[in-house]
Amino acid sequence: MAKTIIDAHNVSKTFNPKTIPVHAVQNVHVHIEEGEFVALVGPSGSGKSTLLNMMGGLDEPTAGSVIIDGVEITELPENKLIDFRLHNIGFVFQSFNLIPVLTAKENVGFVLQLQKMPKKEREERVLTLLKEVGLEDKINSKPGQLSGGQQQRVAVARALASKPKIVLADEPTANLDSKSAENLLNIMAKLNKEEKITFLFSTHDQRVIRKARRVITLVDGKIASDVEQTPS
Ligand SMILES: Nc1ncnc2c1ncn2[C@@H]1O[C@H](COP(=O)(O)OP(=O)(O)OP(=O)(O)O)[C@@H](O)[C@H]1O
Ligand SMILES: [Mg+2]
Repeated sequence: MAKTIIDAHNVSKTFNPKTIPVHAVQNVHVHIEEGEFVALVGPSGSGKSTLLNMMGGLDEPTAGSVIIDGVEITELPENKLIDFRLHNIGFVFQSFNLIPVLTAKENVGFVLQLQKMPKKEREERVLTLLKEVGLEDKINSKPGQLSGGQQQRVAVARALASKPKIVLADEPTANLDSKSAENLLNIMAKLNKEEKITFLFSTHDQRVIRKARRVITLVDGKIASDVEQTPS
């Protein structure tokens, strides 16, 4: 039996509660099992990013709890939460969020440096990851010298650096042409299959949605549907 890796329990988020409240996410229940490959879809403003941020402990719910691999992250003090995130969750953002002055190798190794992994081990791991995403010939390039698709692959390699159980990706293909988007999705699907990493990604892209095995649709901050499908 697969175990629940993400459990969002009755999660709500209201922005500006004292002025003009925005109910971005309302009473959402989601259970995601280890090894799932899930697309989070819905119109702009439906709460996808807000929900992903709360599931990853980047933002705090107004109500409800988020339990990741048995740990109630919504109860963790800030320093413990940072540490938990560092070891368990990888993030990929729409805008890549790479550090411009660092090379691909340094960007991917950054999180491992924070974890104080010894240099030799770190360099090996970074090289393996950059090979995995097909960038072994770009390890010394800085983000400005890479295409959008290549930068996004660096961002995926970085998200995987600490061997997270979960990767949360907010519109990872939004800035990519269709070839790069497909390439990235194939890398994610391969890692999901071979390393059992759970992926939850928000997207507007039909081609990306087709690759998911489960599609959760948000409308006005609520789950409108949650269906399994055969990827195509
Ligand atoms: N920091 C914030 N302060 C106030 N309102 C916010 C904040 N962040 C998001 N919102 C509001 O919450 C709602 C949900 O936003 P969210 O970014 O989660 O939507 P989304 O589904 O990710 O949209 P998109 O597809 O455009 O990325 C929107 O109405 C948005 O304006
Ligand atoms: Mg968003």
